[in-house]
Amino acid sequence: MRKPLIAGNWKLNKTITQAEELAAALVAGLKDVSATEIIIAPTFTALNRVAAIIGDAPIQLAAQNCYPQESGAFTGELSPLMLKDAGCGAVIIGHSERRQLLAEDDQLINAKVKKTLESGLLAILCVGETLAERECDEMLEVLSAQIKGGLADLSAEQMANLVIAYEPVWAIGTGKTATDEQAQEAHSFIRGLVQGLFDPATAQSCRILYGGSVKPDNVDGLMAQDDIDGALVGGASLTAEDFCRIVKFEKK
Ligand code: 13P
Repeated sequence: MRKPLIAGNWKLNKTITQAEELAAALVAGLKDVSATEIIIAPTFTALNRVAAIIGDAPIQLAAQNCYPQESGAFTGELSPLMLKDAGCGAVIIGHSERRQLLAEDDQLINAKVKKTLESGLLAILCVGETLAERECDEMLEVLSAQIKGGLADLSAEQMANLVIAYEPVWAIGTGKTATDEQAQEAHSFIRGLVQGLFDPATAQSCRILYGGSVKPDNVDGLMAQDDIDGALVGGASLTAEDFCRIVKFEKK
């Protein structure tokens, strides 16, 4: 019922030429995939050129961030419409690296989500607790605040264009994946929050991705969990072989 979605977040990596090379390898490796939706998020500077390489291959382009205004005096920022113009169909919003390094809060993230949806793009809202928060038993409280804050004022209809990515901060780039059970528990909790904010049908159709050291050797177990609908992949999305294997996860 929920189509699996595997997204690659390239973060601050690759020159335009390197991005084109990786995109070409992904097009070759993934051209026949139809059962799983695929998204890649290169850096801003590579978006337009990667869009040309993707062509009509079954890969969607996403930006890693946006600003919640259409145009104006906002030096250094990009609007969702500009990203759409560059070839994007989606935007990653509220990644923990931006929450931590750039002090993005739930209010700003909510504004970005709304502007992205208004612009006709898919919003990928990231949430996740830090290690300290998990160890202090604050995980559920943190996830609840991030979900409620990020989804504030949205309608159930708008939720059809939104994907949630649960990325425990302690699992990002550390090689420490959440166990299948830890991830499932958080995803099921998040689905319950969505149900509380909207309704059971919206919660059942909302895709929730797991992110944090997803690799070819752990994706199958994660994807076998009831409430895990896909993955947001960092490091392993930078090599075609690994990312293609993750997209072609094996159903258990
Ligand atoms: P890693 O897969 O490198 O842990 O990164 C996860 C992530 O932050 C994706 O957005």
